[in-house]
Amino acid sequence: MKIIGLCGSARKKSYNRAVLQYIKENHKENIELEILDLTTLPMYNQDLESDLPKEVIEYVEKLKQADGFVIITPEYNYSIPALLKNALDWGSRSREAVFDSKPACLMSASLSIFGGARVQYHLRQVLVCLNVITMNKPEVFISKASEKIDENGNITDAYTKEKVLGAFHTFINGIKKES
Ligand SMILES: Cc1cc2nc3c(=O)[nH]c(=O)nc-3n(C[C@H](O)[C@H](O)[C@H](O)COP(=O)(O)O)c2cc1C
Repeated sequence: MKIIGLCGSARKKSYNRAVLQYIKENHKENIELEILDLTTLPMYNQDLESDLPKEVIEYVEKLKQADGFVIITPEYNYSIPALLKNALDWGSRSREAVFDSKPACLMSASLSIFGGARVQYHLRQVLVCLNVITMNKPEVFISKASEKIDENGNITDAYTKEKVLGAFHTFINGIKKES
């Protein structure tokens, strides 16, 4: 099974990418989790579709191979960062329906006490359009991220570690049951 990880932050010391990396390094499932770099994608422009940039072709190919997605993102102004929305828009334009009927697990980390709750509900709405099947529960909202993840991207909070790995394992088990 191949799971693709998408992160909505381009920041070098991103808390959200740190969480994705933690899952990649610590999960106990017999699966491959590959984290894609979304920063190489150009800003979506329909004019580019007649001669797709190689970064887009490679990205879409990765999405095609995916059995599911883990999407971990910050909240920007109560919504989806442009980096992530751009990546979803590019993927949505592939004729091969790279998202269609595939499962996704969503998580968010933010500095606020809400932990990115608002972005996740916006994201769920967009993923309905792509016919991605999002896991409803458990939900993972990492609030006050700077108190739980250090400067080097290490999660220092035991509850957060347990919560993210628990949600990921529930997600993978759910996929296994369906297949
Ligand atoms: C443009 C912008 C908008 C933001 N809007 C929100 C917001 O609506 N809600 C929130 O909880 N945090 C918001 N933040 C703060 C983020 O939670 C914080 O920058 C966080 O560290 C981003 O995640 P990252 O560390 O993965 O980059 C915003 C940050 C930026 C740069």
